[in-house]
Amino acid sequence: MHHFFYRNNELYCEDVPIRMIAEKVGTPFYLYSHATLKRHFLIFNEAFEGLERLVCFSAKSNTNLAVLKLFKSLGSGLDIVSGGELYRGLKAGFSPDKIVYSGVGKRIHEIDYALEAGILMFNVESLEELELIDKRAGFLRTEAPVAIRVNPDIDPKTHPYISTGLKKNKFGIDMETAIDGYKVASRLKNINIVGIDCHIGSQITESKPFIDALESLKNLINELRQIGIQIKYMDMGGGLGITYNDESPPHPREYARAIVDSLKGSHLHLILEPGRVIVGNAGILVSRVLFRKSGKVKEFVIADAGMNDLLRPTLYDAFHAIEPVVRTEDKPITADVVGPICETGDFLAVDRKIPDVKKGDLFAVMSAGAYGFTMSSNYCSRPRAAEVMVRDDRFHVVRDREIYEDLVDGESLPPFLDD
Ligand code: LLP
Repeated sequence: MHHFFYRNNELYCEDVPIRMIAEKVGTPFYLYSHATLKRHFLIFNEAFEGLERLVCFSAKSNTNLAVLKLFKSLGSGLDIVSGGELYRGLKAGFSPDKIVYSGVGKRIHEIDYALEAGILMFNVESLEELELIDKRAGFLRTEAPVAIRVNPDIDPKTHPYISTGLKKNKFGIDMETAIDGYKVASRLKNINIVGIDCHIGSQITESKPFIDALESLKNLINELRQIGIQIKYMDMGGGLGITYNDESPPHPREYARAIVDSLKGSHLHLILEPGRVIVGNAGILVSRVLFRKSGKVKEFVIADAGMNDLLRPTLYDAFHAIEPVVRTEDKPITADVVGPICETGDFLAVDRKIPDVKKGDLFAVMSAGAYGFTMSSNYCSRPRAAEVMVRDDRFHVVRDREIYEDLVDGESLPPFLDD
């Protein structure tokens, strides 16, 4: 359920006609619905009622400060993967002791930053990283709370680029080595073992892979207990999928039920790192048609948003529904919706039956709230789009559209070129 709907054939976000925002802000822009963001977070969080848990919103899916601040105000923690995300999280007011830090390539300054901030735990992805964190904690005269991210070798049945829990993936430490990792960790002076972690992939549309991962983690926790290592936090990562087209992922309540049933009475404190399921369908990308062009074999809708704004169709062949901002009676067309970038891969939709949007018309690329703006770039020196949040009958620009000066910000000429 989201708050993008038609009223008198006009697409609204909550009580604001999207056409009006486009007139004031220009296009393209990302648009987030406050009510939808809030609803999705609360439904997800409440689904785990009965368990001690902390939902750590996964920053990488949407790092806009207004979005982060909203989740923070609802009691969320934060899942981060870089020093930059820690910076944003702290700026949005997250308490450091609700922040978990994953990622295979943490750098010294990032580790120090997280240690100094006092985060809840590091999800450690290699033995070398474990040693480095121990060293840095010693240097900073502190203790590092860690979980080992285990790779349970489970097929999440999703796109290969976003599958993370298979042996062949770079993430985590395999189950056998993880035991050794915990033994090493227990001997390291500046490491405090607090948890266990996994994240098996993203856009997962069935419950079974999660349950299989949960069972593997529980077994490992039992083995650890036998060698005297106690685990407090069990971090199940994120990954629950959403409906982009015709997928039917489990409802968060269904996903949660299996986890809650399995963990009840275990004294484990559950951590979850959802991203897409919270923000994916709470945001859209609004674009305007620049031109129409009939090729010999294809019809093209040339839009002012391209792969630099929304990379998912290009990178994963991802489906995003295209909806008109003003509905007409015209017969739908079959077309490629393409952007202004000089690459054949620059498309938002291919061979798609879409509304007959004409030059100057606005359209919405749906389900773009997750991994939309965060994966956008300045490719072809295109300023990044604005971000807007609607609440009830008002809209707020929560990130200005970039301007040309932003494109060269930080660049300088070496003396031999400075005339
Ligand atoms: N935790 C960790 C450690 C992760 O690596 C991720 C996502 C999440 C949580 C959140 O996963 P979610 O609940 O959003 O599925 N750019 C891709 C998705 C990459 C996901 C990377 N990791 C896309 O646009 O589909």
